[in-house]
Amino acid sequence: MATILSMKDITKTFPGVKALDNVNLEVEQGEIHALVGENGAGKSTLMKVLSGVHPHNSYSGDIFFQGKKCEFKNINESEELGIVIIHQELALIPELSIAENVFLGNEQSNKGVINWHETVEKTKALLHKVGLPIDPQVLIKHIGVGKQQLVEIAKALSKEVKLLILDEPTAALNEEDSENLLNLLIEFKKQGITSILISHKLKELMAVVDTITILRDGKTIETLSMEKDGVTEQRIIKGMVGRDLRDLYPERISQPGDTVLEVKDWKVFDPENPHQQIIHNADFYVRKGEIVGIAGLMGAGRTELAMSVFGKSYGRNISGKIYKDGKEIQIENVNQAIENGLAYVSEDRKKYGLILNDSVRKNLSLSNLFRISQRAILNKHEEVKQAETLKTSMNIKTPNIEQKTINLSGGNQQKVVLGKWIFTDPDVLILDEPTRGIDVGAKNEIYKKINDLALEGKGILMISSELPELLGMCDRIYTLAEGVITGEVNKQEADQEKLMTYMTRSRRS
Ligand SMILES: Nc1ncnc2c1ncn2[C@@H]1O[C@H](COP(=O)(O)OP(=O)(O)OP(=O)(O)O)[C@@H](O)[C@H]1O
Ligand SMILES: [Mg+2]
Repeated sequence: MATILSMKDITKTFPGVKALDNVNLEVEQGEIHALVGENGAGKSTLMKVLSGVHPHNSYSGDIFFQGKKCEFKNINESEELGIVIIHQELALIPELSIAENVFLGNEQSNKGVINWHETVEKTKALLHKVGLPIDPQVLIKHIGVGKQQLVEIAKALSKEVKLLILDEPTAALNEEDSENLLNLLIEFKKQGITSILISHKLKELMAVVDTITILRDGKTIETLSMEKDGVTEQRIIKGMVGRDLRDLYPERISQPGDTVLEVKDWKVFDPENPHQQIIHNADFYVRKGEIVGIAGLMGAGRTELAMSVFGKSYGRNISGKIYKDGKEIQIENVNQAIENGLAYVSEDRKKYGLILNDSVRKNLSLSNLFRISQRAILNKHEEVKQAETLKTSMNIKTPNIEQKTINLSGGNQQKVVLGKWIFTDPDVLILDEPTRGIDVGAKNEIYKKINDLALEGKGILMISSELPELLGMCDRIYTLAEGVITGEVNKQEADQEKLMTYMTRSRRS
């Protein structure tokens, strides 16, 4: 096999951070090559160096692609050679249609006039290739993140791609969609396209890749061949974390107390289409000290349920009752939700979680939330103290708390979101995909944190697409299908199969 890509002694520094320290990466023609490492290990940075996002001269070291030395000044230059990167943070424009997004910057035009018909037809064909049979004229904002990910891939295919780089493409996807996407990579491989795949989901990654390169603290630890080296998950984890990690899900003795939150007969309608009911008569409760899961396929309404309860931040014509510690309460908006002791950690950290241009300190601090809830502002001294405490306890990797949040690695941004809400000292913490894009070591830290909160007597409601995570953490799990709670399973009797059965139970059957 020939080497398609060789990155030699790449070093890249940011103020206060050596993100890459003499990294070497060799990728063979036609293979699927995984890049793994803890949050902040330097994976995304390495790929940004490769694709010219970080231009030549902003790093040291050499890049050879198909034998030729490359000095990309921008992303266009790498794309011209067929290197296409799909970033960790999706870059689609919500207000534009799928077709417009796919051909953005690459318009199908004739003498300056955009050929709309051609754009739509070509997009249709590309969507077909990625297994997404929907109308190309649908707006991006109307499809879920999973589908958006496929649109990004369709967009990559619209260019002549030789090396496809996917930075955590399945982080936001459920198992079925992830599997489709990974099968797609195998399909591409047959067509001779080489891929580099970054993922924290080691199991699924091991199932499709040929080679794995492990980064730790900006350094290459090793490159393993799946075939030759008999790679196990433990081995990869050890390489990433630098130590053995036995139990991902820490032990917890569960002693649920009184019911802290109860929701009855909850109905929610689509904000755009008032006739469409999204949540149907949901009844559920969470006890003090209890971790309760919500399992469901993409589109089942999990986030919609959580957000509608959290101050009606989703939906319209919402009806039903909410009881807190046995008393009925009225929650009309997010302020009131916070005042009533609820906190919601969102799956979309950009939209609902963070102000990326603000410092870690500001994002972690209560003053940020008080801005939302319009109360007084904390004094700076207190803010610094609390931010430092959280930085340490959440193990947030940043040179200092004044760093802009946008400069943190994806997983560390997620820890800031979680930290920020823990800060509000809620009675009920709703976690929506809390460990999305988080490395195994940090996941373990976050699970411990969640367990601690439960031990303190807080009620935890946890939404996750990863069934092993729900099974590992929850005392009780509700299943949701098409906006209907279709099942409730206790820890003792829960397994993947049972959950899947309930998750796919249609209300029409
Ligand atoms: N633009 C930037 N300015 C300052 N520091 C940065 C910038 N981009 C990345 N870093 C820092 O470089 C290091 C590597 O970050 P990178 O995003 O490459 O990590 P990663 O391996 O992709 O992690 P994750 O799994 O969390 O996405 C981190 O410490 C990060 O904070
Ligand atoms: Mg990254």
